[in-house]
Amino acid sequence: MNYSIALVPGDGIGPEVTAKAVDVLALTGHKFGHFFNFVELEAGGRAIDSTGEPLPASSMEAAKRCDALLLGAVGGPKWENLPGHLRPERALLGLRAGLGVFANLRPAALLPQLKDACPLKDEVLAASHPEGKPTFDLLIVRELTGGIYFGERGRDGDGKSDDSSAFDTERYSRAEIERVLRVAYGAAAKRRSKLCLVDKANVLESSRFWREIASEIAGEYKNIETSYMYVDNCSMQLIHAPGQFDVIVTSNIFGDILSDEASVLSGSIGMLASASIGGKAAGRKYPPGIYEPIHGSAPDIAGKDLANPLAAILSAAMMLRYSFSLEQEASAIEAAVNSALDSGLRTKDIAGRTGYSAERIVGTNAMAAAVMAALKAG
Ligand code: IPM
Ligand code: MG
Repeated sequence: MNYSIALVPGDGIGPEVTAKAVDVLALTGHKFGHFFNFVELEAGGRAIDSTGEPLPASSMEAAKRCDALLLGAVGGPKWENLPGHLRPERALLGLRAGLGVFANLRPAALLPQLKDACPLKDEVLAASHPEGKPTFDLLIVRELTGGIYFGERGRDGDGKSDDSSAFDTERYSRAEIERVLRVAYGAAAKRRSKLCLVDKANVLESSRFWREIASEIAGEYKNIETSYMYVDNCSMQLIHAPGQFDVIVTSNIFGDILSDEASVLSGSIGMLASASIGGKAAGRKYPPGIYEPIHGSAPDIAGKDLANPLAAILSAAMMLRYSFSLEQEASAIEAAVNSALDSGLRTKDIAGRTGYSAERIVGTNAMAAAVMAALKAG
């Protein structure tokens, strides 16, 4: 099969990590008889530099014509002082909204090889694990195209007087809540059948609406155990008892915050991949999903062969699984990442707290080469 993939390398370490994911995809295609055709799009800071806009209309149009998008990261200090609508982050928000990818899947698990990079003690991990093992495996399903990120916002007054103000609005429609809950229930059914809705229903009306709808549709998913948790408690539970979670479903902003927190538990934010799905196909075979590492552009380490390419590579695996149903191919990439870690190689971010032998600490290139070698051999 032929697949057309929009490549959005973006800024900072984005280009170097996506280049590795492209190599891995090309090799996977070669092995399994698929052809991935890459179309590079301008978006983020570099698009601001070349066109004056974070997401030129031509990039948006091209994204809609592709089968899936592989994104690096956008942003950097150079563009930090631009007004909101011209910041590189607008590119991400524009792509998410433009493609209608309302469900963002962010898996966070602790691989056995990375136990030493997890800041939690074994006994803390084991205490909440259903079988008493020092590990965890959860999936955050974050609503991605609604809520405060996209609600009405603005300012009143001159900005100097005491009664000048600024506001952002958290608003969710029934349809927006229901569709993301259904994606989360579907994911829970394929995992350990537990779903926890995280909200702030003790204060926010929008959260109470989420709960109302969740309790209505929970009845349709009899085999899934539904629970509810306030977001402040959840942020504590994640670092205290992560083993209790299977699927967490939550709003755009809470999901943004909790997924960064969860990433640290898995060793490094450099390990976490994500899939943004749920768009409409509009006459196409595949509604384009967006696949990206959850880390940012990390300008301080860009171009230094220091970035961990595994989150980008694992995002490519998620693309094969979620957009193209190429399960075997996705598993082959994940297995290759596993063997690269088994071989003892570590990028600096996952080297752990206690004196990892310096010669096994490698850069972006060597880590990606190890994955490629394992994929070839596998
Ligand atoms: C993320 C990022 C983005 C978000 C930023 C860069 C706009 O933090 O994908 O988690 O808040 O969604
Ligand atoms: Mg974030």
